[in-house]
Amino acid sequence: MRSSLLKVLGALLICSGSAVAQTTITVDLNNTSANPTISKYIYSHFAEHLGRGIYDGFYVGDTSKIPNTNGVRNDVVAALRKMKIPSLRWPGGCFADTYHWRDGIGPKDKRPAIVNKWWGGVVEDNSFGTHDFLNMCELLGAEPYVSGNVGSGTVQELADWIQYTGSDNKNPMSDLRKANGRDKPWSVKFWGVGNEAWGCGGNMTPEYYANEFRKYATFMGSSEGKTKLFRVASGASDDDYNWTETLMRNIPHHLIEGVAVHHYAVIGWEKKGPATGFTEEQYFTTMQRALQMDTLVTRHARIMDKYDPKKQIALVVDEWGGWYDVEPGTNPGFLYQQNTMRDAMIAGTTLNIFNNHADRVRMANLAQCINVLQAVILTNKQKMILTPTYYVMEMYNVHQDATLLPTKVSETDYAFGKDKLPAVSASASKDKAGVVHISLTNIDPSKKQKITLKLNGQNFKSVSGRILTSAKTGDCNTFNAPDKIKAVAFNGAVLKGNTLEVTLPAISVAVLTLN
Ligand code: AHR
Repeated sequence: MRSSLLKVLGALLICSGSAVAQTTITVDLNNTSANPTISKYIYSHFAEHLGRGIYDGFYVGDTSKIPNTNGVRNDVVAALRKMKIPSLRWPGGCFADTYHWRDGIGPKDKRPAIVNKWWGGVVEDNSFGTHDFLNMCELLGAEPYVSGNVGSGTVQELADWIQYTGSDNKNPMSDLRKANGRDKPWSVKFWGVGNEAWGCGGNMTPEYYANEFRKYATFMGSSEGKTKLFRVASGASDDDYNWTETLMRNIPHHLIEGVAVHHYAVIGWEKKGPATGFTEEQYFTTMQRALQMDTLVTRHARIMDKYDPKKQIALVVDEWGGWYDVEPGTNPGFLYQQNTMRDAMIAGTTLNIFNNHADRVRMANLAQCINVLQAVILTNKQKMILTPTYYVMEMYNVHQDATLLPTKVSETDYAFGKDKLPAVSASASKDKAGVVHISLTNIDPSKKQKITLKLNGQNFKSVSGRILTSAKTGDCNTFNAPDKIKAVAFNGAVLKGNTLEVTLPAISVAVLTLN
């Protein structure tokens, strides 16, 4: 009754032209000891040998005029360290199931060139290989997540790669690594067992793939390294729940640590629409697709609960993000797209969804880090820009490894035609120092939100915040105007006892800090 009254009042405010909607959010701060931790790996990224992701993105080679460390751009390293990138997935994607790691070790001038058959048919000279990637992860302070080749590789090839990277014993693989200049092994915990096995990874059935996984996982486990491996099964596309069910049923649980799922916010695979200059209908549809993530993780997790009620196996969303038409005049196989406030809305809402499912979603990788799909960084020769998505990732890093606080958001609609979406999304956490952070997203392109935030169970002395907002959903940073959009201090939150009154502008992502 009370909530319907609020809705009517909210609607009246909107009809009267003031373009303000009213939302109530409660944050439960009571008895947090049993709450799940938001794994920092939810904030992970993905770098495939695709377009200008690796070459021209991360890696320019050590003879480049662009300041670099062993060929990796210093500006990129600094930006990603600041964002706190916890883990990086490599070398694909579809590319992973064509990649033979021995092509990318040893003297660079002796490495074979291959054709990148998935992405633009360009020559891949293998100048960026295993050493380059793992050393780069050390520079970034990120843990590597390596995708093995199941589609066109062998069990022995993957077992050898694990031994090459991780073994300190005397054996042919660690001898080879040493001969190639790296004495101590790296620590590589996360290993993907193929990628999209239902499609570019081999067009397998889930039953067939589950058997393949069992075989691969058996021999991967025999590494002589000190790092306990985290083996991730190639997961479902979107709502292919049968894929998850078959894997959970057919794979012995001592062989598997994670099951993947991929979901892109794409309007339609045939007609994706432009990355900039899109209509409100396209914006609305993209947000509809992005918000489907909540249903997807809920339902995949429910299936996992049936087979793994103790939640030992993680749901790993190792590809997500917005996917549009490539920028005019660029190679269609390079998937280069601009990044606007629409992408910031995708990032803000999706990360809230992951945080709120922290009990099962324990890793997620935005696709992809630089110059590909929903990137956090775009480069153009010497120039580098940070995208709106970068700032969301950077603001949200306060949730990494913090304790989840349950939130409830009252229904406030962003309506378009006959359809509607929840305008506001939220998630909250308490970090190890006891500081509480609340992240809020308002996807409505024209209405600001008056939010009453009830903090149940704890009183606070002060609130501060940061916000990312802009006038239009299609606004973006460009190489000529790199700082048009960036996170700034937010003064729209007022603390009254244990209630916060927040005025959240249209198209905005904010993170509040409570002490
Ligand atoms: O991220 C681009 C591609 O999308 C990946 O290579 C593949 O796994 C997915 O289909």
